[in-house]
Amino acid sequence: MPAIILDCDPGHDDAIALLLALGSPEVNLLGVTTVSGNQTLEKTTANAIRVLDHVNRKDVPVAAGASRPLVRERRTAGEVHGETGLDGPDLPPPSREPEPQHAIDWIAQAIAARAQRVTLVPTGPLTNIALFLARYPELESKIERIVLMGGAIGEGNTTPSAEFNIWVDPEAAHRVFHSGIDVTMVGLDVTHQALMAPDHVGRLAAAGKAGKLVADLYSFYSRFHARRYGWHGAPVHDAVAMGHVIDRTLLRTSHCGVEIDTGPELSRGRTHVDVKGAMGWEPNCHVAVGIEAERFLELLITRISRLG
Ligand code: RIB
Ligand code: CA
Repeated sequence: MPAIILDCDPGHDDAIALLLALGSPEVNLLGVTTVSGNQTLEKTTANAIRVLDHVNRKDVPVAAGASRPLVRERRTAGEVHGETGLDGPDLPPPSREPEPQHAIDWIAQAIAARAQRVTLVPTGPLTNIALFLARYPELESKIERIVLMGGAIGEGNTTPSAEFNIWVDPEAAHRVFHSGIDVTMVGLDVTHQALMAPDHVGRLAAAGKAGKLVADLYSFYSRFHARRYGWHGAPVHDAVAMGHVIDRTLLRTSHCGVEIDTGPELSRGRTHVDVKGAMGWEPNCHVAVGIEAERFLELLITRISRLG
């Protein structure tokens, strides 16, 4: 059973990924760290605690991390996730403060305290992970793998070139993709193939408190995707990355060379993927190239339903 740390920016799909982890006995969630991304650090941190409160998991530590990218200006996504970062559900304010340590220090103590290696699951901009690797190089060997939601072989979602998590902090992404650690990139190419749809949501709404929360999250979050893409459903990007940690067979991956574009605006944050190896780039990442969408969505529904 992999011990994992979810580094996230809740965010509707981050919240769903967190619930999926909590409902899945295949993973041991050591804790949650938060980063500025979908909303400011203060809001993403409060949202992580609010979701844990909702399912009575005050035992899961939450540590706040970077309030802005390494180099670039802070950018958030209120147009997608709302002013709170978790618009839609009526969740009470967080019941507690985050841990006193900075996220990277909390990750360090959590990893150092264990004999087994730990899997990092970043589902927001990679600022915390890059800072952790810079501050604690001696702990790199204690990381089993990094399974991140981010990037795209094809079209982006923030610019035609780039996906949001990588676009927000391309320098941090470069550091992670060139860390030498076993990195898996779960990008838009697969997350856009596994849309949560109204029939999935109807089952979740009837499944209990956690499922009802997902239904309320979906109700707000799906409106953006209907407006922008005309979709009758919404991608649960971060839950796909978490699903891969729970069951590797859900995704097909290809070991490729990936370079992060840290250039100016138009190409900023592009994940250049040598997907067929035609460029002869040294492979540094397992890139998700296929997904068993219905099997993933069924896992998502059954695991979140278990939370009651
Ligand atoms: O591009 C989608 C990603 O950016 C997801 O992780 C979403 O939560 C946002 O962080
Ligand atoms: Ca996210």
